[in-house]
Amino acid sequence: MIIENTIEQASQTLRSHNILSHELDAQILLSDIMGVKREYLITNDQMIVSKKIIDKYNSAIERRIKREPIAYIIGKKEFWSKDFIVNKSTLVPRPETELLIYKIINFYKKKKVNILDIGTGSGCILITLLKELVKARGIGIDISSKAIKTAKINASNFDLNSRVEFKVFDINKFIIGKYDLIVSNPPYIPSKDIKNLSKDIINFEPRNALDGGYDGLDLIKKVIYKSNGLIKKKGVLAIEIGNRQYQKVSNILKSQGYREMSKEYDYKRNVRCIISTKLKFV
Ligand SMILES: C[S@@+](CC[C@H](N)C(=O)[O-])C[C@H]1O[C@@H](n2cnc3c(N)ncnc32)[C@H](O)[C@@H]1O
Repeated sequence: MIIENTIEQASQTLRSHNILSHELDAQILLSDIMGVKREYLITNDQMIVSKKIIDKYNSAIERRIKREPIAYIIGKKEFWSKDFIVNKSTLVPRPETELLIYKIINFYKKKKVNILDIGTGSGCILITLLKELVKARGIGIDISSKAIKTAKINASNFDLNSRVEFKVFDINKFIIGKYDLIVSNPPYIPSKDIKNLSKDIINFEPRNALDGGYDGLDLIKKVIYKSNGLIKKKGVLAIEIGNRQYQKVSNILKSQGYREMSKEYDYKRNVRCIISTKLKFV
């Protein structure tokens, strides 16, 4: 079968299973298996696809029918224009997390900073910051040993082993070092809302990367309280939050001696990231 028909058939199959992004998914999966860019499929659409590729493609399409996220099927996700290895132990990096990156790199350009990333997952936040801030160093911690293993592979792939460390730690027990910058994208979905997430998320992404407890704020609070002992005076805490959490989180930050420097909105005008400076130790 030629490329054009292979994609068309797979796209129809995905559409019949109510997958809205059926055409794009069909293209991404075939380009990944063939090891070519998506544009190549368009410019070479009459090329014959080998039986070996078709077999691999069919099993990838089967996985997608079961709602497995594309990122897990192909084993990578683009974040800040770079491909990060991801798997079922790591959250799939989200575009809203790039809001946090954008602000921080403008603020710290060329400065020598020591960074802590709490709940590092694939390491996408810390690795991206270290690639952009060439004098910075950092440590990423996560409660999941499998996530840390993945973050270490990503760090090696980006040639960052001399400036980064990844360690398995529960934030409750972490007491090492003092940091100029603490970043975190903690789990922040209220437990009762988890069941309303799409099947792609609930059935595949790690629960401990999503569930923020009763009101979604359990981990956010832990990050803020624990940062008291880890941040330098005038250090910066940059934290991603969920929908409608801004007011509560902002009040907690104030009560802990932080002054808000900026807040970042997503395209739906929800505050998704708060960046604040530690002024007082309370
Ligand atoms: C929302 S994910 C963020 C992953 C990654 N930083 C990103 O932005 O894609 C939250 C991460 O926090 C980790 N986590 C959950 N509870 C934790 C705890 N008590 N201590 C440290 N890490 C924790 C999870 O394993 C998960 O990797």
